[in-house]
Amino acid sequence: MQRSNYCGEVNVSHLGKEVNLFGWVNTWRDHGGVIFIDLRDRTGVVQLVFNPEINKELHKIAGTARDEYVLNIKGLVENRPEGTVNKNLSSGEVEIKVTEVKILNTSKMLPFQIRDDINVAEEVRLQYRYLDLRRPKMFKNFQLRHKVTFLVRDYLDKQGFLDVETPILLKSTPEGARDYLVPSRVNPGEFYALPQSPQMLKQTLMIAGFDKYFQIAKCFRDEDLRADRQPEFTQIDIEMSFIAEEDIMALTEGMISYVFKNALGMDLKAPFKRLTYDEAMGRYGTDKPDLRFELPLVDITAIAKNAEYKIFSSVAATGGIIKGLNAKKCGSFSRMEIDKLIEFVKTFGAKGMSWFKVENGKMESNLTKFFSEQILAEMKEVFNAEDGDLILIIADKSQVANQALDFLRRHLAEKLNLINKDAFCFEWVTDFPLFGWNEEEKRFDPLHHPFTSPKAEDLKYFDTEPGRMKARAYDLVLNGLELGGGSIRIHTREIQEKMFKAIGISDEQAKERFGFLLEAFEFGAPPHGGIAFGLDRIMMLMLKEASIRDVIVFPKTQKAQCLLSGAPSKVEEKQLKELHIKTLEHLKKE
Ligand code: AMO
Repeated sequence: MQRSNYCGEVNVSHLGKEVNLFGWVNTWRDHGGVIFIDLRDRTGVVQLVFNPEINKELHKIAGTARDEYVLNIKGLVENRPEGTVNKNLSSGEVEIKVTEVKILNTSKMLPFQIRDDINVAEEVRLQYRYLDLRRPKMFKNFQLRHKVTFLVRDYLDKQGFLDVETPILLKSTPEGARDYLVPSRVNPGEFYALPQSPQMLKQTLMIAGFDKYFQIAKCFRDEDLRADRQPEFTQIDIEMSFIAEEDIMALTEGMISYVFKNALGMDLKAPFKRLTYDEAMGRYGTDKPDLRFELPLVDITAIAKNAEYKIFSSVAATGGIIKGLNAKKCGSFSRMEIDKLIEFVKTFGAKGMSWFKVENGKMESNLTKFFSEQILAEMKEVFNAEDGDLILIIADKSQVANQALDFLRRHLAEKLNLINKDAFCFEWVTDFPLFGWNEEEKRFDPLHHPFTSPKAEDLKYFDTEPGRMKARAYDLVLNGLELGGGSIRIHTREIQEKMFKAIGISDEQAKERFGFLLEAFEFGAPPHGGIAFGLDRIMMLMLKEASIRDVIVFPKTQKAQCLLSGAPSKVEEKQLKELHIKTLEHLKKE
């Protein structure tokens, strides 16, 4: 039998027609002898009616059906009796008088109902993911994900980009995480690394003259997981030759606008806002500020360092900063509420937080005795403080103060209801430092990755002051989440070698790890650059999901496990032997 329609698509236009439907029993009700079944497929539900007075045999079969049994039915589309119409359903004005029914499969008792509004532990949802994915909301998530990847491919194809697949069994790509390694059976003791991104290969494709590359690429990173991170995730990965920053930004704005318009019907305002890294850190304490609300940070080191308040003066004297924000109209917060905020910032490394309330035109606090009238007046001015405001200040090392204030800013915005949850606020962050100082290993690390080009005017600092060099890098941020990042690349061997040297990679290590790329640079490598977007993160924000796991069909848990399949798991001794691998357990036994 051929399906004539999807369940959710049957409507008044089919009145009087015979339909042939396949689906799952969504709900089952016996109303005074008449059995009603809502039959569900990925499009929605339609109501089936089994009346014993019309057909005893069919009614008997329907009586044995239970939740999630799989049915095939034939029947006539009829109007629902008056008073039973359900305007919330697309099929809500009709029902099917069933003339044939087959039970194609049965179902065990369900661990949870197939409904959107369930309250079930995520572990159970992930273990029975196929049931979880039957829920309409989940299917809609993946329908939109399909639409987005389709639109991305369509847009990039029209711009002349080639969709190219690159290998998964590869050499390590340095993107700042640990590698997932795969042992080689035919090369004893040797390993492939799964790509953290296709970075080096897309650059190689530019050297090959492909000019415009893209790929919807799987990437693998063994790092600590969070609500917006998975060990295995998907990038929209792009690379172009003979371009500058502006070209990548314009292409991105075109692509994202095209996707939002055609997937969500939304017109985005392009060009997107731009901030330099220094502006972002200064005003918001982070390189990925959420601009759906303002609540700016203000650095008052220059004003407050001369106060007699020991905490401020000693922090300033040791190179730290004094910075804070004005929580507008929060002067009425109780001591307990303020203490809670202080405890909150302590969880992000701050040692404490000072506060002032503005009353009768003056900054008031139990600390005022340590501050001159002039300093208090200047502080009031820079915070733009008015009666009824609450000023919160942290003095600490710059990294600690910025991090704690960034969290505080976002926490207050939630608490004070300052965030428009329907807004999509995109921004570019540019002019990143080329390096970050790695305190543990006492050396510089690339802030993006080591293939990022320094700004031409900073090349002179490679040997003397690498810390002040800026990168030709840019990040795209949406609502406080880093959606994508990219850069104009280094394309000469000489500068690439300088870069490796600056981050402590010796010539031998560079040759062993990146030799093929260094050599390729010597065969007419074109200037090039690119960007990669986290597709899962884009979906998470478009769908307003709090967890990245709700936009990935079979995601991993916080402990990087797949609860559906039970991966990772032990393997057979024979397999380990073939791979020339001995575990610690083996060694203990020997
Ligand atoms: P980057 O490392 O910034 O750049 O990654 C690009 C984007 O990928 C997403 N992302 C992740 N999403 C989910 N889970 C993860 N573990 C995860 N890690 C990263 C983020 C991020 O912005 N090769 C460069 C790009 C380039 O220079 O062209 C790269 O991979 O949204």
